[in-house]
Amino acid sequence: MKRAKHVLMVLSGKGGVGKTTVAVNVACALAKGLRVGLLDADLHGPNVPKMFGIERATMPVKDGRILPVPTPYNLGVVSIAFGLPDADTPLIWRGPLKMKAIRQLLEEVEWGKLDLLVVDLPPGTGDEPLSMAQVLGEVDAALVVTTPQQMALLDARKAVNFSRRVGVKRVGVVENMASLVCPHCGAEIDLFGVGGGEEMARELGAEFLGRLPMLTEVVQAGDAGRPAVAGDSRAREAFLDLALRTWDFVRGPAEG
Ligand SMILES: Nc1ncnc2c1ncn2[C@@H]1O[C@H](COP(=O)(O)OP(=O)(O)OP(=O)(O)O)[C@@H](O)[C@H]1O
Ligand SMILES: [Mg+2]
Repeated sequence: MKRAKHVLMVLSGKGGVGKTTVAVNVACALAKGLRVGLLDADLHGPNVPKMFGIERATMPVKDGRILPVPTPYNLGVVSIAFGLPDADTPLIWRGPLKMKAIRQLLEEVEWGKLDLLVVDLPPGTGDEPLSMAQVLGEVDAALVVTTPQQMALLDARKAVNFSRRVGVKRVGVVENMASLVCPHCGAEIDLFGVGGGEEMARELGAEFLGRLPMLTEVVQAGDAGRPAVAGDSRAREAFLDLALRTWDFVRGPAEG
């Protein structure tokens, strides 16, 4: 299966650490100069459409193939959310049906020519991320998103090793929510500690791709359906930086 020149998957050990936020903002930043597609591979918590404000879109189908839903940021999105009747309806399917959905989302989409396909995986290293990774086949790079506290790092280590086991070529680590910037005085509070992600990356021989602070504008942008990297804030710089490093990492030493 060759859908894109390069494939990047975004995963984590724990839920809620910022995978979707990272996937959306990195994809958005790179879509300025590259042909990028974003696949929301989270069947039970498909949050990508919400972060683009396109959660009411329905899945466009042409000649029996799924088409990505366009966004104002020069990239298309595919999500199971577009196939559900409304945002409150959960997907209550067992394994075989989910496997079928995973295959459809990965194989029956007409992306057109892509330089990069970004895949936002569900949290953890269980059944679903495993099926996704297996169906994805060749993946150039994985971004393991973690927060800096030991409780998250313990699971993030598993995500690094999971990525290697499923054959991802290069595994990188992003430390998210590394510090909280006070919106009043600008002081930095190390709520979850700082540096744990970097240390873990070094220990496991993974590449450390950067640290993102906890910023209120990231939450606001996500809730408003307008990726923070498209705004005008400190978050923009942080995500642009991460996106550039990620693109070099995805291409690897020869091309980067
Ligand atoms: N750097 C950050 N600063 C502030 N808020 C953040 C940051 N990163 C993520 N968030 C917020 O934290 C919440 C969870 O983020 P997100 O949905 O990206 O996590 P996730 O890992 O994809 O979660 P899940 O495991 O459920 O898929 C969101 O409300 C998001 O806006
Ligand atoms: Mg998510």
